[in-house]
Amino acid sequence: PQVCWLSPEQTAGKQKPYMYTQGQAVLNRSFFPCFDTPSVKFTYSATVKVPEGFTAVMSATSWEKQKDNTFVFKMSQPIPSYLIALVVGDIVSADVGPRSRVWAEPCLIEAAKKEYDGVIEEFLVVGEKLFGPYVWGRYDILFMPPSFPFGGMENPCLTFVTPCLLAGDRSLVDVIIHEISHSWFGNLVTNASWGEFWLNEGFTMYAQRRISTEVYGLPYTCLEAATGRALLRQHMDATGEDHPLNKLRVVIEPGLWGINPDDTYNETPYEKGYCFVSYLAHLVGNQSKFDAFLQAYVNRFKFQSITADDTLGFFLEYFPELKKKGVDSIPGFEFDRWLNTPGWPPYLPDLSPGQQLMRPADELAELWAADSLNMEAIEAVDITGWRTYQLVYFLDQILQKSPLPEGNVKRLSKMYPKISKAQNAELRLRWCQIVLKNNLEAEYSKVKDFLHSQGKQKYTLPLYRAMWGGSEASRALAMETFSATAPQLHVNVQNYVKKILGLGTAE
Ligand code: BES
Ligand code: ZN
Repeated sequence: PQVCWLSPEQTAGKQKPYMYTQGQAVLNRSFFPCFDTPSVKFTYSATVKVPEGFTAVMSATSWEKQKDNTFVFKMSQPIPSYLIALVVGDIVSADVGPRSRVWAEPCLIEAAKKEYDGVIEEFLVVGEKLFGPYVWGRYDILFMPPSFPFGGMENPCLTFVTPCLLAGDRSLVDVIIHEISHSWFGNLVTNASWGEFWLNEGFTMYAQRRISTEVYGLPYTCLEAATGRALLRQHMDATGEDHPLNKLRVVIEPGLWGINPDDTYNETPYEKGYCFVSYLAHLVGNQSKFDAFLQAYVNRFKFQSITADDTLGFFLEYFPELKKKGVDSIPGFEFDRWLNTPGWPPYLPDLSPGQQLMRPADELAELWAADSLNMEAIEAVDITGWRTYQLVYFLDQILQKSPLPEGNVKRLSKMYPKISKAQNAELRLRWCQIVLKNNLEAEYSKVKDFLHSQGKQKYTLPLYRAMWGGSEASRALAMETFSATAPQLHVNVQNYVKKILGLGTAE
């Protein structure tokens, strides 16, 4: 399942085949012999010979093309097995900063360069200021074929990203900031077990939002975090708060009680993890003191794999006055409860600085949910200047209130082509969810088109869940779409969709 072989039709250019690997969580064992656990780190080198007209790239600190289409790679820093990655395809590159270039198929390279030219370096510089030296040398970005199952994958030196990020307006750059943040949290300080995946993702979400706050300000960052909180709400509603996956520390084991490490890729380690790190910051009560702690933490555990006990032990050691106060056992907020009790986070960071951006969206959603629409009030709101994440937030509110009274969504669709005809993937996802929740059969083709255009897991699964939970017609749409697109999907995503649709899987 690790090595994905794509036919020319599955690429953007449709001319040449393509191959890529995806190691996280436990797939690299089918790529090369290894201790396939994040608790072990090693350096590597690789020699890759490819056919004429192809280029190989890897997550490596140095590379060199020799004669006979042979590429030689070296990773000189110790990394866990899941971070080794290879792509072979018809790909080219363009510089976007002093230590960064973008890689893409030739037909996408202009768009790729335009999207991120001159913006990457600032994120790296802010990251270094906050968390310490960037140890990986280069930070390059590779735009993957549309079936790549993730928004981004933090392969060291060379982040892989979905081509959905090519929105034309840099509006989805939070994914890049996220993957850059893994350069410290995940790639340098690594979770020793997939049962504590939140150590990678929760700290990374926190670091991402710290960088975002420095670059884009607090209001915008709170708005983005509010959309994350909405995703956590949706996830917990769908799985049930008490689901064993909704703990930060989960039990990885085969069988009835255990969890497959791939299943930990859900909103809990990300957003509940973010809340826990925010809670630790709240206990400290001072941003620059907490920033200094994060930097000391990275320095203390760099190139190591650790457990949450190491993290929390170091926190209490670093802040002895907090340890003396017993902050690890405040009733209702015990560290043990954070780690081992499923459910909604006991502490939520204050996102009210985002209110100035969220309030207009809340109010507009309220208007659209009314039984008889107050068109005068609706028309008085001008959304043309809204940022993408404001629209996303607005659509999440609409979705939460859906199904809306008969006819409202149809009117909303007509009124805002900027939303209902959007090309931006985050907007398309929400619009498709709204179409399904409101049974707007006239726009089912948009769901189909979106699922044909890309195969990101976080877009694909919610839409199949919504289709399968809906009407006869939406179930038929699910079956029809899946049989047409299944061969293009990553095998893990295929299996998850099969589970949703009640089709047998190989397991
Ligand atoms: N490391 C993850 C992707 C991943 C997780 C791959 C688990 C395989 C198993 C990556 O850093 C990530 O979190 N990507 C997010 C980005 C988002 C949170 C900004 C994604 O793909 O959605
Ligand atoms: Zn991540």
